[in-house]
Amino acid sequence: MLCKEINILAFESSCDDTSVALLRACEGDEFPKLISLSVQSQQEVHEKYGGVVPDLASRAHLRNLLPCLKKVLDESKINLSDVDLMASTHQPGLIGCLLIGHSAAKALSFLYDKPLLSCHHIEGHLMSVFLEHRPAYPLLAAVVSGGHTSLYLAKNHDDFEKLGVTLDDAIGEAFDKGAKVLGLPFPGGPEIDRLAKEGNPTRYKFGKVQTKNLDFSFSGHKSELVRLVQREGENLHHADAAASYQKALIDHLMDKIEIAIKSHSVRDLAIVGGVARNSELRLRLEELKNKNSISQWYAPSAQFCTDNAAMIGVLAYRKYLRKEFSNLSEDVHSTFRPNSKKKKIA
Ligand code: KG4
Ligand code: ZN
Repeated sequence: MLCKEINILAFESSCDDTSVALLRACEGDEFPKLISLSVQSQQEVHEKYGGVVPDLASRAHLRNLLPCLKKVLDESKINLSDVDLMASTHQPGLIGCLLIGHSAAKALSFLYDKPLLSCHHIEGHLMSVFLEHRPAYPLLAAVVSGGHTSLYLAKNHDDFEKLGVTLDDAIGEAFDKGAKVLGLPFPGGPEIDRLAKEGNPTRYKFGKVQTKNLDFSFSGHKSELVRLVQREGENLHHADAAASYQKALIDHLMDKIEIAIKSHSVRDLAIVGGVARNSELRLRLEELKNKNSISQWYAPSAQFCTDNAAMIGVLAYRKYLRKEFSNLSEDVHSTFRPNSKKKKIA
């Protein structure tokens, strides 16, 4: 039987990845399928500065966005007039960066008279797991990215309740800052991951972080690493320091995840965001499963862990089903602002 197709065009430009995606659903589907994804990284632009430079990031989005769009349209073999929903990230993120993708989606929505769906970046990360998996509910979901670290309890696809959040640095930020302290290039997460494989994670001791409830704190470990580097000087064993630091960050994350699993009696766990690519974290999640603390854990494949428009397209489709449309005067916001009755995700 032929279905009524819904084509979703999604833009993501909240930080330093320019991304466009085309997804397709049949009316009545729970989730859309990814048809084409284009991601243009800006690593070359920012690495010499050791971090993302907002003005350069906006300009790079301006250069990269239309080539990404053209690639996606070519691969999907459709015209812009065949798109049914226009979607983009409008918060949180760097203002100049958000403006590029959001302006594109708004202009196309206006031009083709198609609904606009303004999406929250973190909700997008949470939806990234549904590109490939169907975890069971209740579901514990951890967002572990460069800008955010938070835990959610999901009762269904549309109801995510925030349980805890970082009180200072995000875990990815802690990886990046720690890498800088160790003289590694930006972005530091993958560098620490790689170097830690050659090191002894028990060589250097880091203190145990105490935070209330299910909140996190990662900045103390970075300060400990700075003191370690100063203390050891030329005697510092870099691989052992990377392994020990990585262990300290992941221990803290896993402590909170284990508490949340027990206190909310969840059996399935989803881990999303750039740090979900970390190999040590994946081993630790597998251990959790092997000791039967959870039934299964799910992480998106690498390309969907870091920022991408496919996850924004999934979220846009769920918002379409919930009839959460935006109007053409919708603004962008650097931090979260609840603009609808669904205030649970931030
Ligand atoms: O989700 P993402 O692309 O951007 C944000 O929304 O923040 O995440 C980027 C973060 C960076 O901090 C990067 O260092 C980290 O993800 N990351 C990793 C790994 N791959 C990326 N951290 C640890 N281990 C990795 N393998
Ligand atoms: Zn992100």
